[in-house]
Amino acid sequence: MGSESMASYKSSTGILNFLLISLLDSSLIVSCIASKFNQEFDISWGNGRGKILNNGDLLTLSLDKTSGSGFQSKNEYLFGKIDMQLKLVPGNSAGTVTTYYLKSPGNSWDEMDFEFLGNLSGDPYTLHTNVYSQGKGDREQQFRLWFDPTADFHTYSILWNPKLIIFSVDGKPIREFKNLESIGVPFPKKQQMRIYSSLWNADDWATRGGLIKTDWTRAPFTASYRNFKADACIWSSGRAACPSRKSWLWQKLDATSFQRLKWVQKNFMIYNYCTDTKRFPLGFPPECSVNM
Ligand SMILES: *[C@@H]1O[C@H](CO)[C@@H](O)[C@H](O)[C@H]1NC(C)=O
Repeated sequence: MGSESMASYKSSTGILNFLLISLLDSSLIVSCIASKFNQEFDISWGNGRGKILNNGDLLTLSLDKTSGSGFQSKNEYLFGKIDMQLKLVPGNSAGTVTTYYLKSPGNSWDEMDFEFLGNLSGDPYTLHTNVYSQGKGDREQQFRLWFDPTADFHTYSILWNPKLIIFSVDGKPIREFKNLESIGVPFPKKQQMRIYSSLWNADDWATRGGLIKTDWTRAPFTASYRNFKADACIWSSGRAACPSRKSWLWQKLDATSFQRLKWVQKNFMIYNYCTDTKRFPLGFPPECSVNM
C-alpha cells in the first residue's frame, strides 16, 4: 500500500465535476466541520465511565479507584490531518494520565502519542510525546504548555503524510518527525492506524516517578473532548480512500511554522531523547542528526 493507490480519488478541475464530487464525496463536506462522536468513536472500555453527550458533540472519560475508561475510532486512517480538542482533569490530577494517540495493529506497529501527565493543583502538566515506527519507540520528547490545559479546551493535532509527522498544539507545531528512510530510519507510511484515548491511573510512575499518589478523595476524575476533525484518508478493504482536496498530503513546515516550532522547543521542551547523553552514551539514534 503506497502513495500511488492513495491517489485513487483523483481531484477534478471542472466546476461540474467539482459540484458532483461535493455531493458524492461526503468527506469533502464533513472535513470542514466537527464530527459527531457517536458516529466516529466507540467507548471501548470503562463500564459506563466513558460517555458521549450533547447529541454527540461532547465526550467525557472518567477515572475512579475501580477503573479508568477509553474510546477508539471506528475508522482506521493512513495519513491525515487530525484535530481534537481536550480539556484535561482539573485540580489535583497527580497520578492520572490522559492518553491520545494513533496506533496500528500487530507486532511491528507504528504509533504517535500525546500523553498528558497530571500534577498537583497549581503544578504544571507534562505533555509527553513519542513516535514508534515498526515497533520501535524510545523517541520521547516532553513539553510544558503555555496555558492551563484544564481551564479550557485546546486543540491537539497530528499532521501525518508520507514525508513527515507534525504534532501541534493550538496550531503551533511542537514536534516534527521527518521521513528519514534515506538514512535507514523506518517511517510510518504503510500501516493504517486507529485513534485511541484513555484516562487511567499511573501513580506507580507518572508523578515524580511514583512518589505522588492519586488522591482518590477527588475521584471521579474527568477529561473532556470536543470538535474532532479528521481530514484524513480512511482505510477500507485494504486501501486508503482520501478526500478530494488534501493539500496536507504534501505539506511541509513553512518558515513561520518553523520559527514557531523553534520557539516552543526553546521555551517549553523539558526533555528530548536526542540530547540525553546518559541514555545514549554510544551515540544518538540516527534521526537525531536531522530531527530535533
Ligand atoms: C509537576 O510539577 C513539578 C513542580 O513544578 C514538576 O517538577 C514536575 O515535572 C511536574 N510534572 C509531573 C508530571 O510531575
